[in-house]
Amino acid sequence: MLTDEMREKLIQEARQARSRAYAPYSNYTVGAALLTASGQIYTGANIENAAYPDTICAERVAVFKAVFEGEKEFIAIAVVSSNGGFPCGSCRQVLAEFGLQTRVLVAKEDGALLFEATLGDLLPGAFLPEHLNERDSRRGG
Ligand code: THU
Repeated sequence: MLTDEMREKLIQEARQARSRAYAPYSNYTVGAALLTASGQIYTGANIENAAYPDTICAERVAVFKAVFEGEKEFIAIAVVSSNGGFPCGSCRQVLAEFGLQTRVLVAKEDGALLFEATLGDLLPGAFLPEHLNERDSRRGG
């Protein structure tokens, strides 16, 4: 359950995280704050690279930090950018791995919440861990 107080805290954490972005190429900075079931918040910002495709988004930095620390149950992620851009497809897929119920909050730099939905709403037909199991069972393995 995500309270309004926690919504606000997540957005504020994402705003702060955004200031730590490394985005010299696009100058488009993004911050993310991920709330886990244990009550921890993991933050992230986008980190770009001169080899452009090696850039990583704010959301994935937050998710990978959390997973590395042993956290795999996510309640919500707040994403903040100048204009309230939505999480990209790769970030949606990475988040989907850990559950379609995760709430996604999209906010602008001033903290105004523009949009909220579940990951399942944002990525219908996600490729999920169980699809690999189905493949195995069809093969009798
Ligand atoms: N970016 C994010 O950090 N998250 C998204 O979901 C969309 C895009 C970053 C990647 C890149 O550094 C910059 O925004 C412009 O694409």
